[in-house]
Formats: sequence, structure tokens, C-alpha cells
Amino acid sequence: MHTTSLLSLAATLFTTSAFAHGNVTSPPARLPGPAMRQACGAGAVSAVQSDFTGPLENIPSNGAPDCNTFLCKGQQFADNQANVQAFSAGQVVDFEVQLPIPHEGPCNVSIVDTATNTVVGDPLIEFASYADENLAVLPANNTQFSVQMPADLGGKCTVEGECVMQWFWFGTNAQQTYEDCVDFVMV
Ligand SMILES: *[C@@H]1O[C@H](CO)[C@@H](O)[C@H](O)[C@H]1NC(C)=O
Ligand SMILES: *[C@@H]1O[C@H](CO)[C@@H](O)[C@H](O)[C@H]1NC(C)=O
Ligand SMILES: *[C@@H]1O[C@H](CO)[C@@H](O)[C@H](O)[C@H]1NC(C)=O
Repeated sequence: MHTTSLLSLAATLFTTSAFAHGNVTSPPARLPGPAMRQACGAGAVSAVQSDFTGPLENIPSNGAPDCNTFLCKGQQFADNQANVQAFSAGQVVDFEVQLPIPHEGPCNVSIVDTATNTVVGDPLIEFASYADENLAVLPANNTQFSVQMPADLGGKCTVEGECVMQWFWFGTNAQQTYEDCVDFVMV
């Protein structure tokens, strides 16, 4: 093999292993934008943009009150108003996730009140062990699963921006946290 092909192979391997862990690909989840730049600074935005599948721990926080990188990676509702999903009580919602670099650990999808960063009700789905890199093949439900919206949220989550469905995954050995947030309202 020529040195150049070795170098490009090495570059490919480096890119694949140094970056890319996992993210939600459907329903549409929050992405960075100008409001996030305003809240968290350009460094946080470029950290997310350089690897949409990277952990929260890689996103620098400027410590500003409006910037919580542990809530939706600091990504803001204001940048994502075009992607608010409308769900009804009991509706089944399909998720698709990509996990280019798995790290074993717990995972859940929960409804989170964004104003207080608190979980509303019970998790919609929970995996005690998710993305286990020791398995030859990941269970199909790690990358494709469905959740059912609660029958009653007590009147919460009816205003856009109030609630997200948060996919949360913690790689135990990697000590890395992954989050993506789907903006939604109950209709
Ligand atoms: C997920 O990652 C892909 C790149 O692999 C990117 O195109 C997409 O915007 C990302 N989505 C989110 C919600 O991070
Ligand atoms: C479930 O997700 C929440 C964040 O939404 C997190 O605080 C909690 O630790 C998670 N539980 C597990 C078992 O991963
Ligand atoms: C995911 O699939 C595995 C293997 O089929 C199963 O043991 C596990 O209970 C499933 N987890 C959830 C949350 O559905």
C-alpha cells in the first residue's frame, strides 16, 4: 500500500474513532443556531457542528445562565421552531438513532420540562444496557425503537418550547453523556 493510501486510511480511522458516537436521526432533533451562539458562544456551536454525535463533555460552556450544555447540548428552542412535533395522548412515536461508536451504559427517552430541566412523569423507554460495544451486533431496538406518549400529562407540554423528548445515554466506561432533544407539543 502506498504511503498516501495508508495516510488516508489512518485519517479515516482517526476520524471514525475520535469522532462519532451517536445521535437521534428521527424525529428531527434540536440543532445549533444563532440563539445557541448567543447563549453559549461560538465555541460550543462549533464543537457540536464538528461532531453531531459527540458527547456533552466535549462542548465548552461559557457558564452563562442561559447556557446549559447538559440540557439538549445547549441547543436552543429559538433555533428549532420549525421542527416542533405535534403528538397526541397515547400516540406511538418511532425513533431512529445512529450509533457509529457504541459505549455500553444506560439510556432512556424522557419528557423534560425545559424551563426547569426536570423530567416529567416516567421515562417513555429505558434501557439498562445500551450500545454495548462488546456485542457482535447491537440489538435492533438500540437504533430503532418506539415510545408511546402518556395518556395524561396534566396539561403540560402544550406550549411550543416548554417540553422536549430527551434521548439520554451515558457510556459508563467512556464516562460520556449523549443527548438529543425533540421539541414537541401535545395536541
Ligand atoms: C446527526 O448526525 C448527522 C451526521 O451524522 C447530522 O447530519 C444530523 O444533523 C445530526 N442530527 C442531530 C439531531 O444531531
Ligand atoms: C434518564 O434520563 C435522565 C435525563 O433525562 C437522566 O438524568 C437519568 O439519569 C437517566 N436514567 C438512566 C437510568 O439513564
Ligand atoms: C431491546 O431488545 C433486547 C434484545 O432483543 C431486549 O432484551 C430488551 O428488553 C429490549 N429493550 C427495550 C427497552 O425494549
